[in-house]
Amino acid sequence: MLNFEDDIPAAAPRLQPAVPPQAFDPAYLSFGIAATATPTPPFAKGGLGGISPTSPHTPIATAAADTKHRRVRAEDKRIINANTDVNQLVPFKYKWAWQKYIAACANHWMPQEVNMNRDIATWKDPNGLSEDERHIIKRNLGFFVTADSLAANNIVLGTYRQITAPECRQYLLRQAFEEAIHTHAYQYIVESLGLDEGEIFNAYHEIPSIRAKDEFLLPFIDVLADPNFHTGTHATDQTFLKSLIAFACIMEGLFFYVGFVQILALGRQNKMTGAAEQYQYILRDESMHCNFGIDMINQLKLENPGLWTPEFKTELKAMFQKAVDLEYAYAEDTLPRGVLGLNAPMFKEYLRFIANRRATQIGLDEMFPGANNPFPWMAEMIDLKKEKNFFETRVTEYQTGGALNWD
Ligand SMILES: [Fe+2]
Ligand SMILES: [Fe+2]
Repeated sequence: MLNFEDDIPAAAPRLQPAVPPQAFDPAYLSFGIAATATPTPPFAKGGLGGISPTSPHTPIATAAADTKHRRVRAEDKRIINANTDVNQLVPFKYKWAWQKYIAACANHWMPQEVNMNRDIATWKDPNGLSEDERHIIKRNLGFFVTADSLAANNIVLGTYRQITAPECRQYLLRQAFEEAIHTHAYQYIVESLGLDEGEIFNAYHEIPSIRAKDEFLLPFIDVLADPNFHTGTHATDQTFLKSLIAFACIMEGLFFYVGFVQILALGRQNKMTGAAEQYQYILRDESMHCNFGIDMINQLKLENPGLWTPEFKTELKAMFQKAVDLEYAYAEDTLPRGVLGLNAPMFKEYLRFIANRRATQIGLDEMFPGANNPFPWMAEMIDLKKEKNFFETRVTEYQTGGALNWD
């Protein structure tokens, strides 16, 4: 039983950066990378690792290379700052990462597998949805259509190159592709419903409650995307850990959940079931991203206990508090009135509940003692094993579903 657990049934089993947060830079959002970014040196840490830059395909058996080019031992691997060859996946040390990679691949899905005909009919019917329900859908998509691009940027431009555990890199590659699928899914919903693409995709510049969340996140991406940023010192290791927590626990573990609840609540009332089905698959993926990130955070803490200082924990608590406030403001903006059995105060309780869970998952104290989960049904939504036909039908549909026409 998953009690709001986002543990993934198919599988066994990031605060202020060290540099001052940059001002909100629309150019960043437009192009997805800071203007100062330059290509990562190919043979820097995270590049070829133990392979000679001059002969990338020919291991060199010289005495000088003995240490650098010796065979990898699992016990020498580390999440960050390892001296082992990052290109050699085995011997495994972080089996939890490899298991999540396997489970994520088994959960593969594509947006066009989901029939959107009913959603299209409902959206076109003047009586199909209330204005408040339409507002929820547009705000919701307004956040998500760009959120997964930010998540992908964080992985490929920032996190990946600092990680020296190849099992974790393997999962991150899969995760990055899933973020692309999620952006595809949101685009697919926007296109299916005939929404104004410019309005929805530019919402993170135009809607203050969405923009505020992204402004909060961007410094954590920017600091890692800086080509001059490298782990290896107490300060930069803490900065990296903080960004990991910001993304796993705040973005993927908290900022997504108001939106998920809203669309899944629509689906539970038999409205916009195609969109709800897509969100359910996305929720499953994001749950695993969050759990993978938390596993990586805890392993990094284990390997670098000196990072977890009282001052650092105080910074983390402030980050969680700010995130809960931002997400609650977003909930109020999307729900100016109660609808679908939901209202903004329920989300305040829910966000406190989630923040408690994320905090305790990484070894912090609960921030909001006594907070309860007002949406226990979300556990069922996460546990896709209870879905009756998805896996039986998906393969055939997947092979033929690419060109389905909903008109
Ligand atoms: Fe995503
Ligand atoms: Fe994600």
